[in-house]
Amino acid sequence: MARKIVVTSGKGGVGKTTVAVYLSAWLAKKGERVVLCDADFGLNNVDLTAGVESLITYDIVDVIEGRCRAKQALVKHPLYGNLFLLTSSNSAPERYVSPQAVKVVLDALAPQFDFIIIDCPAGIDDGFHRAVATADEALVITTPHLSALRDADKAVTILKSYRLNSLSVVVNKVRGDLLSVGKCLTPKDVEELLKVPVVGILPENDGIEFGDLSQIPAPFRVLGNNLLTGKRRLYDVTRKYCGFFGNIRRALKRNL
Ligand SMILES: Nc1ncnc2c1ncn2[C@@H]1O[C@H](COP(=O)(O)OP(=O)(O)OP(=O)(O)O)[C@@H](O)[C@H]1O
Ligand SMILES: [Mg+2]
Repeated sequence: MARKIVVTSGKGGVGKTTVAVYLSAWLAKKGERVVLCDADFGLNNVDLTAGVESLITYDIVDVIEGRCRAKQALVKHPLYGNLFLLTSSNSAPERYVSPQAVKVVLDALAPQFDFIIIDCPAGIDDGFHRAVATADEALVITTPHLSALRDADKAVTILKSYRLNSLSVVVNKVRGDLLSVGKCLTPKDVEELLKVPVVGILPENDGIEFGDLSQIPAPFRVLGNNLLTGKRRLYDVTRKYCGFFGNIRRALKRNL
């Protein structure tokens, strides 16, 4: 039976879709059977981020409205045979989709998969509840900035009212150069502010080629392995900025 994990945040643009796509790809690469569901019905972009926009025939609304079966709407990823996308790209944004309808579709798929990753829209209104209602675990994505953390805190407060098996935080867009000199909140600070364990740290840029899913960067692999093993190994985003050459890299970054 699949673990259903919602990737949420509160604040927009902090990296939910990026994390959902790379994490799903890594889990699939490790042999897990994964469905990545785009529950962002208004501003959906899982298909674009995963590079499958030209392969879509049906989407989740077609399933809900009875035009196809759930399995027919799954798009097999060309690079990862175990990764299946359930998109929402054809759906009209103004159409009402109930949380119950999404739950019925994902519950029907759950017995045949190991993971269902649900990409949540920004905000904490209807779309948030629709994405969370079907999940049994939540990953809250935040950046180490106060505005994102305040929104993450609101999301965490609501998530605590759901009966989830697991609630953890991923800190994205962390600047290793700033963290190495104490000019940015540490994972421990984030953990203390949100009172939720940090299960992943992802650097800002640092050579990551977004859009090329053939390479899954190490920080996403570490996060995915934590989900598989239950461990909390954190990727060291400061490593590049320590020591002699690290100091030079940091100086160069400061001068950009
Ligand atoms: N670690 C990172 N370093 C640099 N850029 C990143 C990182 N993570 C995400 N991004 C970029 O930030 C932008 C927003 O990311 P993404 O779409 O994943 O956020 P989101 O939380 O899903 O947004 P929305 O709330 O609109 O759904 C994208 O251009 C993405 O490539
Ligand atoms: Mg998104």
